[in-house]
Amino acid sequence: MRIVLLLHSVTGNTDLVARYVQRHLAAAGHQVRLVDIRLEPDPKQLEDMDLLGVASPTMYFRSSFVMDKYLRGLIEPAEPRPAFLLATAAGEPGAHFEGQAALLDARGYRALGAHWVSAPSNWPPQRVVSLPMGLGKGLGRGLARMLPAFRPMLGLFWPDCTEPQNEDKEALESFLGRMLTSAERGDSEALMQPLYKPWLPGAAAAGRRMTPTQASKATATRIDEKKCSRCGGCVQVCPVECITWPVGQPVPQVGSNCVGCWACYHRCPTGAIAGWLSPGGLGQYAGPPEGMRKIFGRH
Ligand SMILES: Cc1cc2nc3c(=O)[nH]c(=O)nc-3n(C[C@H](O)[C@H](O)[C@H](O)COP(=O)(O)O)c2cc1C
Repeated sequence: MRIVLLLHSVTGNTDLVARYVQRHLAAAGHQVRLVDIRLEPDPKQLEDMDLLGVASPTMYFRSSFVMDKYLRGLIEPAEPRPAFLLATAAGEPGAHFEGQAALLDARGYRALGAHWVSAPSNWPPQRVVSLPMGLGKGLGRGLARMLPAFRPMLGLFWPDCTEPQNEDKEALESFLGRMLTSAERGDSEALMQPLYKPWLPGAAAAGRRMTPTQASKATATRIDEKKCSRCGGCVQVCPVECITWPVGQPVPQVGSNCVGCWACYHRCPTGAIAGWLSPGGLGQYAGPPEGMRKIFGRH
C-alpha cells in the first residue's frame, strides 16, 4: 500500500511515534512517506496514495491549528481516500479527532479510525505548576503503573507520569493493523468520543470552539530584550511566521497571528521568551524522555 503520513510535532513526542509508525508499516511491506508539514508546508504538492495518516499533538483539547490549516488546503482526490488519525496527548485528546475527521471529510478523505499515544505533557504552565512536586514524580509513576486509568489525572501533577509504556506500543501496533484491514475492506470504526463532559465548560469550549486568537492569549508570549541571545531560533521554529525580525529591531518581534503552540518558548536557549504562568523558560520540555525513546526509538 502507498501510505503518506503527515506529521506535525512541536517538541518531538509525535515525531518519535510517527517515525516508529513509518518503520513498522515499512517492515510490513508498505511504501510509507513521512511528510513533516513544517518542512513541506504545501498540501498541493502531496502525491496520490492508498491511505493517508495524520499525526499531530493534541493542543487545547483539539488538534493543532497548524495541522488543521494543512488539512484545509488538501487537494481533493479523484476518488475518496481512506485516512487514519493519530495523536500524542498527555491525557485527553478531547475534540481532536472529530475536528480532523470533519476537515478531512470536506476534502474527500474518510477517517477510518483514530488512536492516541500517551506522552509527557509539554504544556509549560502545567510543567511549572508541577515543578514543586518534582520530588513526587517517582511516586506518581508508581501510582500510574498501578492505576493506568488514572494516568491522565496523575499527569496533571506530574506531567511525566503520562510517559508511554510497552502496552502503549502494542496498542498502537494493533490499531495500525486494524487500519490496514479497514482500508482494504472499506469499513471503519467509531471515533473516540471526548472523555470530558459538556458540563465541564473549559474543556468543551477549548476543544470545539477554541480559536487561534484565544490560544495566543493563553500563551501571551513576549521576548525579553535583555535575556535574548539573538540566535534567531524562535524565528526559524515558528510554524506560522508570527515571529519575525524586522530590520532595525534589536530582537525578534512577536506578531498577532500566534497560534499558541509554544514552539518558540521551548526552543529559546536563554529563556528569554516568557508566557503566561511560565516566565523565563521555566517548564521548557527537552523532548521525549529516555524511557519513551527506548520504546519508540530506533534500536
Ligand atoms: C498548548 C498546549 C496544549 C495542550 N493541550 C493538551 C490537551 O488538551 N490534552 C492533552 O492530553 N495534552 C495536551 N497537551 C500536551 C501535548 O499534547 C503532549 O505533550 C504532546 O505529546 C506533545 O507532542 P509534540 O512533542 O509532538 O509536540 C498540550 C500541550 C501544549 C503545548
